[in-house]
Amino acid sequence: MQVNVRVPAKINLALAIGPLRPDGFHDLATLFHAVSLYDDITVSDDDADAPTPPASAARQVTVRVDGPYGTGVPADESNLAVRAVYALADAAGVRPRASLRIRKNIPVAAGLAGGSADAAGALLACAELWGLDWPVERLAEVAASLGSDVPFSLIGGTALGTGRGERLEPQSTGASLHWVLAVSEARLSTPAVYRRLDALRAQEGPQAAALWSQTAGAHGGAAPGSAGPVVDPRIVSAVLHGDASAVAPLLTNDMQAAAVDLQPTLQDTLRAGHEAGALGGIVSGSGPTCVFLAADESHARAVATTLAATGHCLAAEPVKGPVRPVLGEHHTS
Ligand code: C5P
Repeated sequence: MQVNVRVPAKINLALAIGPLRPDGFHDLATLFHAVSLYDDITVSDDDADAPTPPASAARQVTVRVDGPYGTGVPADESNLAVRAVYALADAAGVRPRASLRIRKNIPVAAGLAGGSADAAGALLACAELWGLDWPVERLAEVAASLGSDVPFSLIGGTALGTGRGERLEPQSTGASLHWVLAVSEARLSTPAVYRRLDALRAQEGPQAAALWSQTAGAHGGAAPGSAGPVVDPRIVSAVLHGDASAVAPLLTNDMQAAAVDLQPTLQDTLRAGHEAGALGGIVSGSGPTCVFLAADESHARAVATTLAATGHCLAAEPVKGPVRPVLGEHHTS
């Protein structure tokens, strides 16, 4: 049998980050939003084209990666999707036997949770392939063991995330927003951006940090006097109403300064997006993708065309959100 799943990229419409925790993670508060750029994950339990693992191998998971951003993605057990198959098999007591194929349309190390999308796709597809019939909450526990963004990638849509990103409050909305993803040639490693954020905050010193905290509190960030990072409820409401002009000034990302510090050309990309007529723009998550908000679908196409022509990004993709993972056709062979 073969199962296909399409899993969307995510952007963070608000991302407030607290200090480094003793376990090496940061507490955060974010508004996750899944957008219509998908990786396609196919899982089958018999694949004549896949390399045959040795008959003695107890663990039999193979992976092939292709698509526009497939180059350089590991096709071995270091791939998060392969680790997801093993983690699910362990949790379910199933023999880990599957052939995975990943078509990568989501850029890698781009702040779009593409690796998390692949892992979530592998979980959804294998759960179907193995007839697990698990509630999503049970899959989400396995997802959280794989990475902070994987639980959100399982559900998509729009959701508030807290903890290290794994605690989710899904938000129901019928309204769509239209965005442009400005894909960068560069790649940024998430841990490296977090480290730079910590270093920049340490340089600022306690006085500046307190001021920063109050400024950020106006749009989210760490609310003055509060115990942790928060998302401004006004952006949640504006997103749920699909009110692009209200969302635009409330877009916020505590990681942006660190991402721009590591990749200064992002400043030019952000400026180019504004000059192209976007309502607002920020770095997506840990970057380097920049995301721009448009008034509607045709405005998004126009912004994308103008932005692409500036040469300040590798590609400009109009997308819409929120969207969800799509479990596709099953073929029994
Ligand atoms: O959870 P994930 O594997 O995606 O995290 C990768 C790295 O990013 C972590 O090892 C940590 O350095 C950093 N991180 C963090 N705080 C978070 C999420 C990730 O510091 N909330």
